[in-house]
Amino acid sequence: MKILVVGSGGREHALIWKIAQSKLADKIFCAPGNAGILQQAECIDIKAEDIGRLLEFVRKERVDLTVVGPESPLSLGIVDEFANYKLKIFGPNIKAAQLEASKVFAKELMVKYKVPTADFKIFDDADEAKKHIEKIGAPCVVKADGLAQGKGVIVAKTVSEAKAAVSAMIQEKVFGEAGNKVIVEECLIGQEASIIVITDSRDVIALASSQDHKRVFDYDQGPNTGGMGAYSPSLAVTEELFKEILEKIVYRTIDGLKREGIDYQGVLYAGIMITKQGLKALEFNVRFGDPETQAILPRLKSDLVEIMLAASNQKLNHIKTLDWDSRPCACVVCASRGYPAGYEKGKEIFGLDEALKAKDVRVFHAGTKKQGGRIFTDGGRVLGVTGLGNTIKEAAEKAYQMVGKISFEGMHYRRDIGKKVVPYS
Ligand code: AMP
Ligand code: GLY
Repeated sequence: MKILVVGSGGREHALIWKIAQSKLADKIFCAPGNAGILQQAECIDIKAEDIGRLLEFVRKERVDLTVVGPESPLSLGIVDEFANYKLKIFGPNIKAAQLEASKVFAKELMVKYKVPTADFKIFDDADEAKKHIEKIGAPCVVKADGLAQGKGVIVAKTVSEAKAAVSAMIQEKVFGEAGNKVIVEECLIGQEASIIVITDSRDVIALASSQDHKRVFDYDQGPNTGGMGAYSPSLAVTEELFKEILEKIVYRTIDGLKREGIDYQGVLYAGIMITKQGLKALEFNVRFGDPETQAILPRLKSDLVEIMLAASNQKLNHIKTLDWDSRPCACVVCASRGYPAGYEKGKEIFGLDEALKAKDVRVFHAGTKKQGGRIFTDGGRVLGVTGLGNTIKEAAEKAYQMVGKISFEGMHYRRDIGKKVVPYS
């Protein structure tokens, strides 16, 4: 089979590394890819959002399966467009992608279908939102409705911080249209976990649980990022909790969508908070998590292409169980100076060859590019360094040993990945 992966991050590198191991994969393309992906796939210079050119490429090359990494092409309707030409593509359609593209859509669906989530109110008027914030007090959470590249959620410690977030979103339009509506919601306290499943809307296959590290600095300090590291499995998600998450959050959402006339096909990612009051869904993503995927796929022994193909053929019931490496995996993200705000680019990366020799360690590239045989930084999150070990601690140590051999000017990373493994009680 010829397979195209759309995207250019660490998630896409991990996907391609895994796809390359499938007996079904004869040729892999990536659009646009990065310097690491270049070693395993033919990278083509088409942006992930350029659906017209992607379509043209897939038809010309007779690609058999397209796998979409990021949310933006999904929310722009790449799946619907490909379906018009009967092209096989793994991901949800434009209506289903609203689950991530509109937090208002997701919250309203959750209320309607009794998916537990934080209490909230929706506003399109800044003054009313601010009055509400004064009433409920801090801490509280302000969320832009639309896609904001992972920056649209402000967990405000004070009333004035929350009001400033409302002003920025609704009045100053820092996220453009995405901030036309905002959600103000109760601040939940607990342990976060990411649950990622694959579904064809009838059957659901869950991948191993994981935990992201969203804040930029150690011990959850500083602003939210796209994710500074992850490990899998999450020790907070016991077998019992996993079942409860699937029943109360995942199945209710997929069934709810079906009742709304939307068949969900592809990856569904539920961000969960395990609180003293029980489980709550924080958010949904309509794609593989990043960096979670970098910590999950090195543990997956089953053929990922078979699973994705089964889901896009509505035959997920043919996949009975998934086979996992029981060893945990940890992923440490190395980021550019300045990230998650404005960051530097174009810094040469040293030490990458070391990773080729190491056992149970893998370096996935995110924002990198190759020039004249050398590799340079080209994004905020630059590399995801993963290690497999007998415990999460050992997995993280292996990753950190490798991180110690890699360098670029301004590189920063969290030093506490895998340390927050005590179940919440
Ligand atoms: P989201 O994009 O909705 O996942 O939000 C990004 C991050 O903000 C989450 O992973 C949480 O760490 C945090 N967050 C979102 N909603 C809440 C909430 N209601 N209470 C506490 N933290 C939250
Ligand atoms: N790591 C969180 C996300 O993929 O959105």
